[in-house]
Amino acid sequence: MQVVAVMNYKGGVGKTTLTANLGAVAARRGLRVLLIDLDPQTNLTFSFYSIDEWHHQLKDTGRTIKRWYEDELPGRDTPLADLVVTPERINAVLGGAGGCVDLISSHLGLIDIDLELAARLGGATTLEGSKRKFLDLHGCLRRALADDQFAGYDLVLIDCAPNFGLVTKTAIVASEQILVPAKADYLSTLGLDYLVGNLRALVDQFNDFVHHKGGDRSHRPIDPGVLGVVFTMVQIYSQQVVLAQHNYIEEVRLNSRVPVLESKIRNSPRHFGDAGETGVPAMLRATGRDDVVKEFDQLTDEVLGALGVKPEENR
Ligand SMILES: Nc1ncnc2c1ncn2[C@@H]1O[C@H](COP(=O)(O)OP(=O)(O)O)[C@@H](O)[C@H]1O
Ligand SMILES: [Mg+2]
Repeated sequence: MQVVAVMNYKGGVGKTTLTANLGAVAARRGLRVLLIDLDPQTNLTFSFYSIDEWHHQLKDTGRTIKRWYEDELPGRDTPLADLVVTPERINAVLGGAGGCVDLISSHLGLIDIDLELAARLGGATTLEGSKRKFLDLHGCLRRALADDQFAGYDLVLIDCAPNFGLVTKTAIVASEQILVPAKADYLSTLGLDYLVGNLRALVDQFNDFVHHKGGDRSHRPIDPGVLGVVFTMVQIYSQQVVLAQHNYIEEVRLNSRVPVLESKIRNSPRHFGDAGETGVPAMLRATGRDDVVKEFDQLTDEVLGALGVKPEENR
C-alpha cells in the first residue's frame, strides 16, 4: 500500500479534482483505492455524495473524519476503518472488476479541530511527555493506516487542506510521497520551495524525537518523498502550452527544489465545470479521445510508475 498526500498551500489549484480523478483512473485499472478527505471544505466528499446524502448517510451516522480527530488521541476510541464508506455511483461505473474507490469523508467542522489538536500538543508538562505527545499526535494517521484493515488497498490518496496545520501534518507523516498540484502562474509557484522547507522541518523534528525520546519505540522514522509538482489547468493553444505558462514551468524545473512531473493537466472547463453529475469523476465519464483524458492516463502512469504500484493480476 502506498500513501500519497496531495497538497499545496494554495486553494483552487486543482488538488481535489486531481485526487478524485487520479483515484478513479487508478481504480479503473484494477487498483483498490482509498481516498481520504482532510479538507474542511469537504469538496472531495461532495464529489461522491450530494449534500443531502452526506448529511443523512455520513454526518448523522458519525462517519466523518472529524469524529476521529476529536478523540483525545485520534483513533483511541474510534477505529479509522469504521469511517470507510463505499460511494455507490462511482463503484457502479467501475463494475466491481477488481478496482474500487472507498472514501473517508470530511466535515466542515474539521476547521476547529486544528486548534484543538494544537492545544493538546501544548498540554504536556515534561519535555519527555511533550515529545511523546508530539509523536502520538503527528503519527496518529500513520499508525491508524498501518492497521490490517487497510492492507487490502493498493493506493491511498489524501486530499489536504491548503494549510500546514496539524491535520495536514498528520497526512504528511502518514505518506510515502507528496504530490503538489499547482497552476503555472507566479503566485502558485512562489510557495513551492517554502512548502518543501516546511516539509523537511517537520520530517526532521519527527525523526529527531523518534531517535531521542527513549522508552516507547512504537514510532518509526519517516522519509516522505516529494513526487513532484503537477501543473494543472494549463492553457493550451494550438497543441502548445501558452508561452507565459511554459516559462513558469521551466523556471520551476530549473530553479526550484521540487521536481516537476512530465505530465500536465490542461484547463478544460468542459470536463471539470460545475455541470458534471455528482458521484462519478469526469475522467470516468469522458471518452478516451479527449486530450485531457489522455493527460490523466499519462499522469496515472507516471505516478503509479514512481510508486511502483500495479494491479494485482500484473504483479
Ligand atoms: N483541469 C481543469 N480544467 C478546468 N477546471 C478545473 C480543472 N481542474 C480543476 N478545475 C476547477 O477549478 C476549481 C478548483 O479546483 P479544485 O480541484 O477544487 O482545487 P483545490 O482542491 O486545489 O481547491 C474547481 O471549480 C474545479 O472544477
Ligand atoms: Mg480542494
